[in-house]
Amino acid sequence: MPTLKVAVLISGRGSNLQSLIDACAQPSFPAEIVTVLSNRPDAYGLERAKAAGIPAAAINHKNYESKAAFEAALQDAIVASGAEFICLAGFMRLLSADFVSRWSGRMINIHPSLLPAFKGLHTHRQTLDAGVKIAGCSVHFVVPEMDAGPIIIQAAVPVLQGDDEAALAERVLAEEHQIYPRALRWVAEGRVTLSGDRVEVKGAEAQQTSLRMPDRAV
Ligand code: GAR
Repeated sequence: MPTLKVAVLISGRGSNLQSLIDACAQPSFPAEIVTVLSNRPDAYGLERAKAAGIPAAAINHKNYESKAAFEAALQDAIVASGAEFICLAGFMRLLSADFVSRWSGRMINIHPSLLPAFKGLHTHRQTLDAGVKIAGCSVHFVVPEMDAGPIIIQAAVPVLQGDDEAALAERVLAEEHQIYPRALRWVAEGRVTLSGDRVEVKGAEAQQTSLRMPDRAV
């Protein structure tokens, strides 16, 4: 099976990008990252890409007079790379409905909550403020509405007494690094189908693990 050519869009640290880089480095992994693009020139993730020998570039949104012009540059760079699929990995610009529709069914995102709860910024603060006892993360197809769209996989973690944002973020992030490569593998293997607002993953293994609930003492 040919590998799926993927563009990864980032804005910062790039730890999820790293988990995708590491997964793609496995010989049997069905996807390859052909470009990493950041809207912030100082994003550490650009260094991670370069260290892995992946073409990487900054497309600074501040250098464009409009969102449309920024997105046109983004689109040109993605198409030039040969990418057929986009992974948003901590990409913190809201994409227009035009851009999203061009990549409909071919763009996924990771968000550090159990969607549809706690969309947007300061996710962990929202989670702690709400007093919920289970937190987690979600990989989902991108639709024009922010942090919405059909969910491919989620992982759950406990919220522990005494957690602050940093402690919760760290626990959730460890799970993000597990589920994002798994979701990309499923997509690249052609096992993911969209049926309305819902995702179906073919294969018994996938059915059993679309919810990752680590067995840990709480
Ligand atoms: C991750 O926690 C990701 O889920 C979140 O930003 C962080 C990026 O970290 N994304 C969002 O909040 C999107 N709404 P990373 O740069 O180390 O991957």
